[in-house]
Amino acid sequence: MNVLVIGGGGREHALVKTLSRSKHTKNIHAVPGNSSMTKYAAVHSGIQDSDIEYIVELTKQENISWAVVGPEAPLNAGVADALEAAGVKVFGPRKLEAQLESSKAFAKDIMLKYGIPTAEYQAFTNLIDASDYVKEQGAPIVIKKDGLAAGKGVAVAMTETEALDALKEMFAEGENNPVVIEEFLEGEEFSLMVLVNGEYTLPFDIVAQDHKRAFDGDTGPNTGGMGAYAPVTHIGEDVIEEAINNIVKPMATAMVREGLDYFGVMYLGAIITKDGVKTIEFNARFGDPEAQVLLGLLESDFIDVLEAVRKKEPYKLEFSTDSMLGVILASNGYPQAYEKGASVIIPQKLEDAVFNSGLKHVQDDRYETAGGRVMLVTGRGSTLEEAKQIAYKNTEQIEFNNESLFYRNDIGERGV
Ligand code: AMP
Ligand code: GLY
Repeated sequence: MNVLVIGGGGREHALVKTLSRSKHTKNIHAVPGNSSMTKYAAVHSGIQDSDIEYIVELTKQENISWAVVGPEAPLNAGVADALEAAGVKVFGPRKLEAQLESSKAFAKDIMLKYGIPTAEYQAFTNLIDASDYVKEQGAPIVIKKDGLAAGKGVAVAMTETEALDALKEMFAEGENNPVVIEEFLEGEEFSLMVLVNGEYTLPFDIVAQDHKRAFDGDTGPNTGGMGAYAPVTHIGEDVIEEAINNIVKPMATAMVREGLDYFGVMYLGAIITKDGVKTIEFNARFGDPEAQVLLGLLESDFIDVLEAVRKKEPYKLEFSTDSMLGVILASNGYPQAYEKGASVIIPQKLEDAVFNSGLKHVQDDRYETAGGRVMLVTGRGSTLEEAKQIAYKNTEQIEFNNESLFYRNDIGERGV
């Protein structure tokens, strides 16, 4: 069959590779895709991932059986709705259900109503009330912009001043989007991917750990993620079970009770607090860079998996016992302003270890940066230690100017 991947980053690069391993796939298309996918897929560069008209027409012309939506923006734009209406099987929730990610108020209201563990919160639409609330609650406290912010609209404020500054900054951008103020939760975080169809849930057996802060030692601003690894062997099965039973399954059931029909990945950002596992956030898609390492270890045929989820059939996911670890190389300045167009050389032998999230191919092994996070350099080994060593060895072989790119040196440190 022919399949379509929507999106053009590292996660979609991983999805394309994963689909290429399926015995069912013939042609793979990617919109817009990226230049590193051409080995596996027909890449429709220059097309927006939310260009519904183009995408629907393409599925007709190319006889697409399954479409997999990578990023949150096309979900929020209703790409899944349109494909479903056109009779294409689409993995990714409709706009209504994708609010689980796009609207913090939507997600929080359901969690509150159904007793799903998460941080206490309040939403504000003006600076004065929000500031009063911060002064009343004190620090540490967490300030989040509502709506899609690519993981960057979050300030974890350790002091009241920091919190008030963050509020000023967020409200300076306009008062249309509410700002959410949350209780600060403390503990170790992990990312759990669960394939959901209504009340049916198929959790990944292994979880990943992302590194949200820009710099070593979990310092600096929040980013979309600076590196990830899987499995996280120091997080026990009991903890993962708790997350599934107390958070993910109740959320799937709650959505159904609310008259919703969720079909796609539910990404749980979880935190292990002294009062048990709690929800940091839900996303309506695979994590990026978590998908690159998790799907890299998935041995099941991905189309078989999607069909099982569609039919709500029991399925046993198979994962390699290896570990995989990836390091993000990002443009200097990211997650704030950064420059594009810096030169990068990726030795040909590393092609399979690199996931392209913001690189334009120039020629042979030469690339140019075209985004904030530009690539994930991975390593794989029988232990996390080995995967980490290989990932960093690979990273050192990428040629670039230190003034244009940076990366964290401590990815996976918690796990080794
Ligand atoms: P989010 O975009 O909601 O996933 O937040 C990004 C990161 O901010 C999370 O991965 C956490 O590290 C941190 N964070 C978010 N909410 C909280 C919270 N309530 N307490 C502590 N840290 C948080
Ligand atoms: N890596 C975090 C995310 O995808 O939201």
